[in-house]
Amino acid sequence: MIGVSLLPFGREAARHAEAAAGEMIATRDLSIAYGRSVVVDRLSIEARTGEVVCVMGRNGAGKTTLLKALIGVLPAYGGAIRLDGREVTKKPSHARARAGMGYVPQGRGIFPYLSVLENLQMGLEPVGRDTGQLEEVFGLFPVLKQMAGRTAGVLSGGQQQQLAIGRALMGRPKLLLLDEPTEGIQPNIVEEIENVIGSLRGKMTILLAEQFLGFALANADHCYVLERGTVTLAGKPSELDTGRLQEALAV
Ligand SMILES: Nc1ncnc2c1ncn2[C@@H]1O[C@H](COP(=O)(O)OP(=O)(O)OP(=O)(O)O)[C@@H](O)[C@H]1O
Ligand SMILES: [Mg+2]
Repeated sequence: MIGVSLLPFGREAARHAEAAAGEMIATRDLSIAYGRSVVVDRLSIEARTGEVVCVMGRNGAGKTTLLKALIGVLPAYGGAIRLDGREVTKKPSHARARAGMGYVPQGRGIFPYLSVLENLQMGLEPVGRDTGQLEEVFGLFPVLKQMAGRTAGVLSGGQQQQLAIGRALMGRPKLLLLDEPTEGIQPNIVEEIENVIGSLRGKMTILLAEQFLGFALANADHCYVLERGTVTLAGKPSELDTGRLQEALAV
């Protein structure tokens, strides 16, 4: 594993070095805190290259906190994060974006006073310029092409979500972090968004935070269920104990 920093993953990771060869993102004993309140506690998860991995958990389980720490908006309180073989735990979020992480925040985080096109162009920052991404995004989300000159704030919730995903794709991510992309969206658009996520399968690694089962179970290669910031259930969708799963996700 020449050139791959294993510290502070340490000996345990060295033992897993072979397994790490196909790994896109991994956390080891990652803890995240707000002040003195630890809400993600020694979490170890991974997504292998090309996989769709789903992090499930009910409200407040720690999904958003985890994704924010992965992209570097929140600092790690303990543990480590490795992206495509490199440790990024202390790297600022723009460096992680340049290293190939794309992030679609919960609630979309679009710029409502900028045009659709300007929002998409903001997504070019990690790669510097457009080498065809804009047309690819317009191909995935034709409505964004139709609305390119409009102010983003006038788009519907579903259109804004498409814009947020499109913006992340402008940076040509190798890992796409999606935080509840279908939350608060009309059912017919949910399907459209799910189809697009499905069509990205294999082109990049996808880490998806979800509260609901259907899409996750149908699309994920691997699921982690979070309860109060720790993984209580993990495995392929077909291997998960449905009783435990219902229990973990019930409100
Ligand atoms: N800025 C903050 N300051 C303090 N505590 C926070 C903050 N943001 C979140 N928390 C707490 O951290 C825990 C995890 O929240 P988080 O938003 O990560 O959950 P989530 O799984 O994304 O939930 P949801 O499904 O509602 O989006 C919750 O107990 C929440 O109250
Ligand atoms: Mg959340």
